Amino acid sequence: MVKVITYGTYDLLHQGHINLLKRAKALGDYLIVGVTNDNYDRDRGKLNVRNNVLERVEAVKATGLADQIIIEDYLGQKIDDIQKYDIDIFAIGSDWEGKFDYLNEFCRVVYLPRTEGISSTMLRNKSQTLVRIGVVGTGRISQRFVPESSFVSGVEVAAAFDADYGKAAQFVVEKNIPDVCCTYEEVLARVDAVYIATSHLSHYGYIKQALQAGKHVLCETPMVLNGDEAKELFQLAEQQGLVLMEANKTAHCPAFNHLIVMIKSGVIGEVVDIEASLSKLLADQRLREFDPNQAGGSMYELGSYPLLPIVKLLGVDYEDLRFYSRMEGGIDMYTKGVMRYSRSVCSFKLGLGVKTEGNLIISGTKGYAYVPAPWWKTDYFELRYEDQNKNKKFFYKWDGAGLRYEIQEFVSCIYNHRFSTARLRRRESIVMAKIIQQFTERINFSEI
Ligand code: CTP
Repeated sequence: MVKVITYGTYDLLHQGHINLLKRAKALGDYLIVGVTNDNYDRDRGKLNVRNNVLERVEAVKATGLADQIIIEDYLGQKIDDIQKYDIDIFAIGSDWEGKFDYLNEFCRVVYLPRTEGISSTMLRNKSQTLVRIGVVGTGRISQRFVPESSFVSGVEVAAAFDADYGKAAQFVVEKNIPDVCCTYEEVLARVDAVYIATSHLSHYGYIKQALQAGKHVLCETPMVLNGDEAKELFQLAEQQGLVLMEANKTAHCPAFNHLIVMIKSGVIGEVVDIEASLSKLLADQRLREFDPNQAGGSMYELGSYPLLPIVKLLGVDYEDLRFYSRMEGGIDMYTKGVMRYSRSVCSFKLGLGVKTEGNLIISGTKGYAYVPAPWWKTDYFELRYEDQNKNKKFFYKWDGAGLRYEIQEFVSCIYNHRFSTARLRRRESIVMAKIIQQFTERINFSEI
């Protein structure tokens, strides 16, 4: 019996896929089709796949051409599969010509003619209109946002606006953006959505105005510094049928996401303690981060990152929260927070003027998760146990500045009319704003 294997994503299954499967099947007696797992596609930088792995497997199954379907999970799996299933022929479309010659050591490699004029990419592009985004505030983070958006299909940065027109004008030239706007109203009139990356205190007004103008909003974290304002804005977004998302990049980090679902499924038992730390020593004291009039300081600047694992794992119903801060020049150059839940406790450390070990440790009744610095953009973590033989290391991908993951989720929410993302629920954004508000109001606050 001649056994053939082939691989692909098979998103929005089309005639090109069917022809390829027929050709592969005709090479032998038994055809195995490897369908890429969602995580694997994401790791490969394919951020735009429409059908999830179950739908794609079902579609391949429905062709009746596969004798067996397997899931492709990791780089290097093809060699393992060829040996494991005793494969005679590895077949793939001619667009991959030469790329799999290394498999000749293990079986025959055949490049099959590809069907011209059709691809999943083409179908995806056809079925979606472009989301035109206006960048509001052209500072450091926006500099990264624009190149990151080019990795996400279905989105275009169409215009930019900054209170300082000169800065915006320079930004559009540098980033090759079609339009520069003189006013916020002008940018709202030209786009479908805005990415707000201005100073914290201006977020509320910009978000409200965008939602009232019927535009989706992705707003840098912290979205707002007040729980009631966050609630009001999410309500307004829902009334308007619009997506409002806080751009907390860690929430969309592939490793972080997997860590959260694994812990929720009990791999370290019940979570009893979380310690999260983040510090950023900046040399230039004139930066916005140090300006009390622009909501500078460690809590406002960094707080929403360590709060994320805490609220995702322990929820929004904490019983007590205390802050200990070292104040200097009107801002907290260091803040430690301690939160008590009914059966767990956690702490976070934030420093603009104190350097901390920036790791994340989640302790449970069966083991603990260790995420080394910088855990907020990690591609790696470990699960550790009393019996060290059970310890496990997990590796993931974190490409570029990592903003592409949140942009992709934002666009996906818009296309699929999802007003909330599981990666950062609205109630989670609201509670973070409430915690920041408690800090502003100096409730349970001690200076050190
Ligand atoms: N294929 C083909 N003819 C096409 C499209 C795909 O023969 N017109 C083949 C590919 O060469 C591969 C298999 O189908 O062997 C699965 O490819 P996949 O990457 O899932 O499909 P594409 O349509 O190429 O997807 P994308 O546009 O996302 O790259």
